[in-house]
Amino acid sequence: MNPYGHFDDAAREYVITRPDTPLPWINYLGCEDYFGIISNTAGGYSFYRDARLRRLTRYRYNDVPLDSNGRYLYIRDNDAVWNPGWKPTRAKLDRYECRHGLGYTQITGEKNGIEVVVRYFVPLGQTCEVWEVRVSNRGSSTKTIKLWGFVEWCLWEAMDDAANFQRNYSVGEVEVEPQAIYHVTEYRERRNHFAYFTSSVPTAGFDSSRNAFVGVHEGLDTPKAVMAGQCTNSIAHGWQPIAAHQINLELKPGQEQRLHFLLGYAENPQDRKFVPGWVRPGQLVANKAPADKVRELLKDSSAIDEAFAALRAYWADLLSIYSVEVDDPHVRRMVNVWNQYQCMTTLNLSRSASGFESGIGRGMGYRDSNQDLLGVVHLQPARSRQRILDLAATQLSDGTCFHQYQPLTKKGNRDAGSGFNDDPLWLPLSVYAYLSETGDTSILTERCGYPDKPQTPATLMDHLQLSMQYTLANRGPHSLPLIGHADWNDCLNLNCFSTTPGESFQCAGDIGGSSAESVMIAGLFCAACDRMTGIYEMINQPGKAAAFQAHKRDMLKTIEQHGWDGDWFLRAYDAHGNKVGSAQCEEGKIYIESQGWCVLGGFRDEKASLALASTKKHLATPNGIVLLQPAYSTYHVELGEVTSYPPGYKENAGIFTHNNTWIQCAEALMGNGDQAMAYYLAICPSKKQEQIDIYRCEPYVYSQMTAGPDAATPGEAKNSWLTGTAAWSFVAISQYILGIIPSPNGLVVDPCIPSSWKGFKIQRKFRGKTYKIEVKNPSGKSRGVKRLIIDGKETRGNRIPLNLGADIVNVVAEIG
Ligand code: BGC
Ligand code: NOJ
Repeated sequence: MNPYGHFDDAAREYVITRPDTPLPWINYLGCEDYFGIISNTAGGYSFYRDARLRRLTRYRYNDVPLDSNGRYLYIRDNDAVWNPGWKPTRAKLDRYECRHGLGYTQITGEKNGIEVVVRYFVPLGQTCEVWEVRVSNRGSSTKTIKLWGFVEWCLWEAMDDAANFQRNYSVGEVEVEPQAIYHVTEYRERRNHFAYFTSSVPTAGFDSSRNAFVGVHEGLDTPKAVMAGQCTNSIAHGWQPIAAHQINLELKPGQEQRLHFLLGYAENPQDRKFVPGWVRPGQLVANKAPADKVRELLKDSSAIDEAFAALRAYWADLLSIYSVEVDDPHVRRMVNVWNQYQCMTTLNLSRSASGFESGIGRGMGYRDSNQDLLGVVHLQPARSRQRILDLAATQLSDGTCFHQYQPLTKKGNRDAGSGFNDDPLWLPLSVYAYLSETGDTSILTERCGYPDKPQTPATLMDHLQLSMQYTLANRGPHSLPLIGHADWNDCLNLNCFSTTPGESFQCAGDIGGSSAESVMIAGLFCAACDRMTGIYEMINQPGKAAAFQAHKRDMLKTIEQHGWDGDWFLRAYDAHGNKVGSAQCEEGKIYIESQGWCVLGGFRDEKASLALASTKKHLATPNGIVLLQPAYSTYHVELGEVTSYPPGYKENAGIFTHNNTWIQCAEALMGNGDQAMAYYLAICPSKKQEQIDIYRCEPYVYSQMTAGPDAATPGEAKNSWLTGTAAWSFVAISQYILGIIPSPNGLVVDPCIPSSWKGFKIQRKFRGKTYKIEVKNPSGKSRGVKRLIIDGKETRGNRIPLNLGADIVNVVAEIG
């Protein structure tokens, strides 16, 4: 079915058995401060906290071939030169396997009786990665082989590294000690950090100059030193510093040898940066103490094994918080493993670093990270709390938000534009999710302040209020919310009027005084009102809780009057007051986002049914729901970037998976379990194995986009991993379809499932207890819990109260 690989569900691994996957299929290493991406051929790069500001190693985006440079091992066995991960030599292997697991990747290559297994992972609590290598002689005669470990350093600031060559070619510096190469570029001046690449066993040579190891005219597929069979012990001065260690091995038949490399990041206090060197008097060198400590700690294989076991236990523990037993294998593996794993990755990295996101442009996004929290509050409550406070601290005192911030500095910036009027409204959603999960109302009185008024002691509650006020105060001629530079759809640029080639659509144009309005923001506002009501109820302020219900009613009325187009919800009014997403338009007659958000915001009537029926009729395809129809065939200056894409791609009628999840939720809210699940499966990565040569992206994580039917390559996915689809898919399946909903007063049981399902079981930790919930569906319905039995006692309603005695609560819910 999929010639490139398969799921190993029991091991929680995706196993790739052919290296020439349709696109590089990547995984992530690290879950705290040190991260890396790694492809199935060991390509990728590493960084400390911030993919832009603290990049350790180089990666070449959009190179030929794609996925060039990484954590390469070279093997030389007589004249055969190869890599266990196939690249970069691409020498044919007798056997190849890559296992992407949770926080680790293990690559096995075998050739001429030599098997090399290398496992890459980041030990918990450390700022380094381990490359654990096992070399075995499977043949019948003794083998003498040479092995090299190789990385190319990035000069820290990834943007500058890729552009500022007049400086870069002169600043590179390294220090070398036995079995260790230290990258110390700029350490002589303002940096107090360095990187290291070390070998656990004595080496037979090293190189730190790329010119010496690879050559000026050679490529990574034929590095000079490897082809010659000997490193040159070069010291890099400027140009491109690298680290390569050569290890010579003799292996008897059947013998296995273990060794490992450490690639890491170390920091020194400013006053302990330097120590005396031993080459010449008066010489000062970098203080290696923090790196030495880690090397010592991870000196032998037993320590490496323990570190790996701890990482496995960490993930097993996390995934024990929420799991489902259900017949559908796709739901099972996505919910129990891969979807939650992807959610963790978006928590760690927002939209910053992947094989597609260069890590230099987009740090932590305000709207993105707030939505990502919806998928992880149950897994990482403490980190979610901190993230919420960090995000709120980038909201300005007028209610607008910095659209993104750098993770290292936590300082907001406007590099990707500003004035996105949906931004403030995602905060009530993330805060409410956090509160429902934890009950921790103390977060509301935490002080976050405003970046433009650091003296003002604004609390999180003040930020929430301000967010809602912002929408109320910024409305247009129809009383609908003004859109600003764009809403969730970054490409709906109703105020940019850009005619300058290459100009950023999101930064162009003046939003001041414009009257362009967004129906999607109106729906989102209603949903946010519900969250605010819930939050005020939690802190016993019924008056304020009620006020938000009144705001919601008003907004729903406004949508009814000015946001309804007859068969579906309008998308917007442009700056001239013309309708966007209306049957009257020539193209772009119907958009997906407002259909989803108006239902999520409160419509449950015939309008909601009609909007969803129209979505199905005009937008649904077997590969998911396209963003709009008909696709725009020409550029519209008054609509902006959405019309810039060729039809069928990205926001111009691509299947932009993130928003598909809102329709899944909406269908479930309307009781249509069969339809909700059909939409869920239409974009489900695991199901894409059936058409992998068309789909091309990783079948274990969501991608941002699949090309729509208008495209030349329908069904082809792009931009995997860092997408809001991860969090929202988890919300859709866990809360709307499987319907176990965390609320301030306990778990609510309200599934909406396919009528053919006989039931399912959920095990979920919640507020210190474990809930074992069995949902039965004896009469083949989709929705409506008619009996709830908690610890053997039948209870009224469908909520499991909070303060039950036992640590394990057994629940049976019957749909009927
Ligand atoms: C993309 C959007 C993205 C925006 C901001 C656009 O080019 O199409 O999906 O949100 O850039 O990064
Ligand atoms: C990707 C961006 O990261 C996100 O913020 C935006 O909502 C979508 N593209 C849709 O344009």
